[in-house]
Amino acid sequence: MSYTLFTNANIYTARDYGSPLSGENQGHISHIPDGALLVHDGSIVAIGNKEEVAQHVPHNISPELVQCGGRCVIPGFVDPHTHMCFGARRESEFTKRLLGTPYLDILKQGGGILSSVRSVAAASEEDLYDMTRRHVSSALKSGTTSLEIKSGYGLDTENELKMLRAISRVADVAPQDVVATFLGAHAIPPAYKENPDAFIELLINEMLPAVWQQGLADQCDIFCEEGVFSIEQGRRLLLAAKRLGMRVKLHADEVHDLGGGGLAAELGALSADHLLAVSDENIQRMAEAGVVANLLPVTAYSLKKPYARARDMIAQGVPVALATDCNPGSSYCESMPFVIGLAVMNMDMSPEEALVGATLNSSYAIGLADRVGSLEVGKQADMLILDGESPAILAYHAGGDSVAEVYKNGKLVARAGQVIYEQERI
Ligand code: NIG
Ligand code: FE
Repeated sequence: MSYTLFTNANIYTARDYGSPLSGENQGHISHIPDGALLVHDGSIVAIGNKEEVAQHVPHNISPELVQCGGRCVIPGFVDPHTHMCFGARRESEFTKRLLGTPYLDILKQGGGILSSVRSVAAASEEDLYDMTRRHVSSALKSGTTSLEIKSGYGLDTENELKMLRAISRVADVAPQDVVATFLGAHAIPPAYKENPDAFIELLINEMLPAVWQQGLADQCDIFCEEGVFSIEQGRRLLLAAKRLGMRVKLHADEVHDLGGGGLAAELGALSADHLLAVSDENIQRMAEAGVVANLLPVTAYSLKKPYARARDMIAQGVPVALATDCNPGSSYCESMPFVIGLAVMNMDMSPEEALVGATLNSSYAIGLADRVGSLEVGKQADMLILDGESPAILAYHAGGDSVAEVYKNGKLVARAGQVIYEQERI
């Protein structure tokens, strides 16, 4: 029967009304100055002003006290799109891109994602576990209390399953909630270059059923892009995933406008991700279908591309979520504060809109909104104490260490950039 009472907290949180926030509500944040929060066995049992919350403490109990000192308290970040499981970094490729070689040309030459495929094939499950653990731990320091991790550097049954097993082991021990996504369709393996449809068949007939039967992922993703997979191939794979009972999402319109946003709307996807090149028509279709736009500003920053049109999406009623896309190629970054900084400064989102995008809307994008994404009674006490007066500090103190303390299920897991608790699942 453990109770913890957080007092003198300057609380900012979105409210969950059962769906991601869009349009004017995208920036709708509740503010409780000098608020309090009572946590029991990891969940929030009361939140509000201190007098109200104090009434919920059982008479015979003296709760553990956390004095927030008037600092800003927000929900923990939910990062809904990462590729944190990989075998090796690709630093030399980054330098090549700086000298002018385009990202997709490097892939065409057998590098990029295919270079990560070679390093995953060479890595043991233990190596992948260690590498993923390191990234997940780094994300924790900057306030990520839940996240998604994709496979996608295996591209054959054995190596995709190896990646997903490593991710599942990390999920068992990391303090965070970790959701695994099967991204077997991340690139066309060289052996299938002349016949990518045969690879889609392999995915549908062999890889997807194996992943599903072994309980290693319940979300399926595909990279639809020129020179990678077409919209038609995406439709075939994602429909097969849906028939199994998986939720679907896709890397959509990242470099070219192929119509990925429209496919996400047609399939009722959890999210369409990237969308740097999405058309107005498909933004409209996403709005009508209520599909979350998962925007990844570090990818635009790192590929030196124009940012996704968050303002147009919000104006048309698409709920916007934010993610790191942490991967060794297009976005080597675990930091949600950096994502929020770019969203505010380069995508013209307000700090409140960005906070909703990085917490509540992102929890919907990975199907975790029933337990995380906002500070409300019944949800997990996943929260951050910021060294600032409001969430604006995250963009204002650019590249700074604004996340002072990180709590997962009411327990302190990181402070001042140091992980305190990472030995076992809370
Ligand atoms: O989301 N676009 C495809 N996948 C990743 C990049 C993966 C990589 O380069 O390793 C992305 O940008
Ligand atoms: Fe990605």
